[in-house]
Amino acid sequence: MNRFGIFEFQLLVMKKIAVLPGDGIGPEVIDQALKVLEVVNQRLECGFEYERALVGAAAIDAVGNPYPEETHQICIACDAILFGAIGDPKYDNNPKATIRPEQGLLAMRSALGLYANIRPVKSYDALLESSPLKNHIVKDVDFVVVRELIGGIYFGKPRGRAEDGKSAFDTCTYSYDEILRVTKKAFELAKMRRKKVTLLDKANVLATSRLWREVVAEYAGMHPEIEVDYQFIDSGAMHVIQKPRTFDVILTENLFGDIISDEASVIAGSLGILPSASIGDTAALYEPIHGSYPQAAGQNRANPLATILSAAMMLDYSFKMPDAAKAIEKAVDKAINEGFVTEDINNGKYGTKEVGDKVAEFTGLYL
Ligand code: IPM
Ligand code: MG
Repeated sequence: MNRFGIFEFQLLVMKKIAVLPGDGIGPEVIDQALKVLEVVNQRLECGFEYERALVGAAAIDAVGNPYPEETHQICIACDAILFGAIGDPKYDNNPKATIRPEQGLLAMRSALGLYANIRPVKSYDALLESSPLKNHIVKDVDFVVVRELIGGIYFGKPRGRAEDGKSAFDTCTYSYDEILRVTKKAFELAKMRRKKVTLLDKANVLATSRLWREVVAEYAGMHPEIEVDYQFIDSGAMHVIQKPRTFDVILTENLFGDIISDEASVIAGSLGILPSASIGDTAALYEPIHGSYPQAAGQNRANPLATILSAAMMLDYSFKMPDAAKAIEKAVDKAINEGFVTEDINNGKYGTKEVGDKVAEFTGLYL
C-alpha cells in the first residue's frame, strides 16, 4: 500500500527469451549467460521466461533441418533470442553435404529480418598483451561494426553453377531501402557514441558500393551532427589494424562486414569475449561472435564471456535495461581484471562454469 492508501500492483511484465544453444560449446556458454541473466531476473523481478529450441547441426540431427519451423515459431513468439554457436566438423569435412548447419543461421537471419548486425570491439587493459598488435595501438579502442546482414552477395540471385559445371556465380544486389534501414541503425548508434560513421565500401569498382555511398551521403545530409567518413574496404581494413582508435561506428555491407569484424576481433585479444546483436524491426538475436569450437565442446574450457556480454546487449537493446547491462559489463571487467578467466585469456586457470559463477556473483554486486 502506498501513502495514499491505494494498493500498488507490481506489474510483472513477462519477457520471453528464446534460447538456442546450437552446437559445440554453444550449450555450455549459453548456460553461463542464463546463470547471469537469472541474477538480474531475480534481483529486479524482470519476469524472464526461457524457451529452448533447436538450431544448427543439433537440429539437423534431430529433425533434418538446421532451422526447423518449430524453432522459427518460437523465435517469433519471443521478445528476444539468445543464441550459442553453430557448426559441426562432420559437415565442414564433407563438401558433398547438401544440408549444412550454417544454412540454419542464414535462414534464421533472413526469416526474422535481422538486417543489422552490431559487433562492438573494445580493448581491455588486462588483455593488451594478448593482442598480437602493439599495446599503444590497441589501448582504448572502442568501436562498433554495423554490418548489413540479409542482403548483398550472401543472398543475391542468381547464384550457383553453370550447367557445364565449369563456372560458378554469385550476385551482389542492394536496394535503396535495404541500405537506408541499416544506415539509420548506424547513425542511431553513432548519436549515442562519439558521433562518427565510417562507411567501408568498394565504390571505385562496385555499382552496389556506389549506391551505398549515395544513400549514406543523402542520409548524412539530414544529420549534420554526425561526422561521416568514406573509405575503401581495402585501405579501411588496413586502418582498422593501424589506427583502430580513429573509428567509432563502421558501417558496411554483408561480406565486407563478415571479414572486417573477424579482423577487428584480434584487437580485443580473444575471439572469446566479443558479443554481437542482430537486429530487425520485429526481432533481435544475440550471439557470441565465435564459432562452435568443437574441439573444446563439453570440456568446461570455452570462454563464456562473449555470450554473457551478448546477454547484456539483449538487456540494453531489447529490454531497455541499460543499467542491468552495465552491471554485467562491469562484472565481466572485474572477472578479467582479477584473473577469473579461461585458458584463451592470459593462460587463465578457470573453467567455463567457474567463470560463469564469478560473473554471476559480481553482477549481483553492481545491480
Ligand atoms: C558470421 C559467420 C557466418 C557469416 C557464417 C557462419 C555463415 O561467419 O556470423 O560472421 O558468414 O555470416
Ligand atoms: Mg564471420
